Amino acid sequence: MADASTSVFPKDFLWGGATAANQIEGAFDEDGRGLATSDFAPFISREANRGYEGNPLPHNSMTLEMLQDALEHPENYNLPKRRGIDFYHRFREQLEALAGMGFKVFRMSISWSRIFPNGDDAEPNEAGLAFYDQVFDECHRLGMEPLVTLCHFDTPLHLALEYGGFQSRHTVDAFERYAETVFRRYKGKVKYWLTFNEINNVLTNPFTCSGVVLPDPHDGTHNPYKGNWQMKYQVSHNQFVASAKAVIKCHEIDPNAKIGNMLCRLENYAETPKPEDQLQVLFEDHFNWFYSDVQAKGEYPYYMKRFFDENDIHIEMEPGDLETLRVGTVDFVTISYYMTYIMRYKGETVPKPSGSLVTAIKNPYLKVSQWGWPIDPIGFRITLNHIYDRYHLPIFISENGLGANDQLDENGYVEDDYRIEYLRAHVEQLAEAIKDGVDVFGYAWWGPIDLVSSGTSEISKRYGFVSVDIDDYGNGTLKLGRKKSYYYYKKLIASNGADLSTDDIVME
Ligand code: BG6
Repeated sequence: MADASTSVFPKDFLWGGATAANQIEGAFDEDGRGLATSDFAPFISREANRGYEGNPLPHNSMTLEMLQDALEHPENYNLPKRRGIDFYHRFREQLEALAGMGFKVFRMSISWSRIFPNGDDAEPNEAGLAFYDQVFDECHRLGMEPLVTLCHFDTPLHLALEYGGFQSRHTVDAFERYAETVFRRYKGKVKYWLTFNEINNVLTNPFTCSGVVLPDPHDGTHNPYKGNWQMKYQVSHNQFVASAKAVIKCHEIDPNAKIGNMLCRLENYAETPKPEDQLQVLFEDHFNWFYSDVQAKGEYPYYMKRFFDENDIHIEMEPGDLETLRVGTVDFVTISYYMTYIMRYKGETVPKPSGSLVTAIKNPYLKVSQWGWPIDPIGFRITLNHIYDRYHLPIFISENGLGANDQLDENGYVEDDYRIEYLRAHVEQLAEAIKDGVDVFGYAWWGPIDLVSSGTSEISKRYGFVSVDIDDYGNGTLKLGRKKSYYYYKKLIASNGADLSTDDIVME
């Protein structure tokens, strides 16, 4: 019988789920919260996008003109991240539902503009600080350790418009002050911190990731964010420094706390055994590893020099930056893992900047989600081994999950066997990785309660075990339901990952 006594997972393994302030909180203008870039990420329906196939309107990045228009006429836009799932008012009920599965950890983020409405105000907003006190207290009351991201895709708007987000060192200084403020306030309440969510996303979406707002290119593409490599690598540097400064402060203020990074992990396979395809894998790997290499090893990796030189990229550094990076390395590494990618040789002997997280090449051996994301549990084991081999640091899985168009009944229930299978298969491979010797101390399912999608701002891409009665336009009662997967995850957690059987799920 598979019970906790036969588990390969460490006894105090942190099972749980992950969220982000901008995708759950709502209350975007209450109790002194300032605006953030995420308040301007519209949901654009498939109908509205008809005719733009291959060149869709941006969901989660706005051009300067669109943003200014949305500031003046918000009524013309559907902005779901302003609503979230009303966690701000309903966090007790929502956390209780999650704790009902036996969660040991709840990953969440603090909304920077709730603490400093403009990002750089002279004094923090006490109402914002008090809100998170209540959330952390509630987590502890329910037996869940809060694991907190400092900045998850929601740069304060003022810093974005006045300073170009992380293009400016002013934003780095403001971030350091914000980090210091929350470390002091929540000392003893928060044991695990992360600096920036998916820091490597700056290469594809500097609006969302780094608060960079660019004017409309007027070339019909709606996308001024393509290319711009000089800017993106400078922003990366600035965020590395901001992250390292936060790590140093965290260690000074609370020696019992641990602080990690967060990488959108891209595992790449060669399309064929052709050495050229494998070379492309190496190049693409470097674009990805660059981020965790700097944050975990504390220096720019050797391979970036040639890449920067041959692509005419020049990083401006301030005196002391390299030392800051050296000292401010993370205590643990976290990743989001959703899928793997196929690489085909692009014909270059020196890597060129890469801007796509998703390759168009399909892997014929993998099924895909309804959103076209390849599902690859074995890739999960592979990637965990690669990370551990590279850093020898403890790993926390800060995101893994399946978004699906659930057909909920009137009780918010759905027989989501597809989600159960996704979870089962990934935990099975996670157990294999642990048996391989990889040091993993926690696993957080992305969106354990339905929330607003980051990429498309829709709610109908549901990830939750707990359903929320709300649609893409904000209609609904916000009543919570429990899907079949809720009871599966509960059983899995109760056995500390030993019982993966899908046959005997008890609905209670
Ligand atoms: C990660 C983000 O990229 O993927 C989350 O850290 C996001 O914020 C998640 O929600 C899933 O992506 P999406 O677009 O389906 O919400």
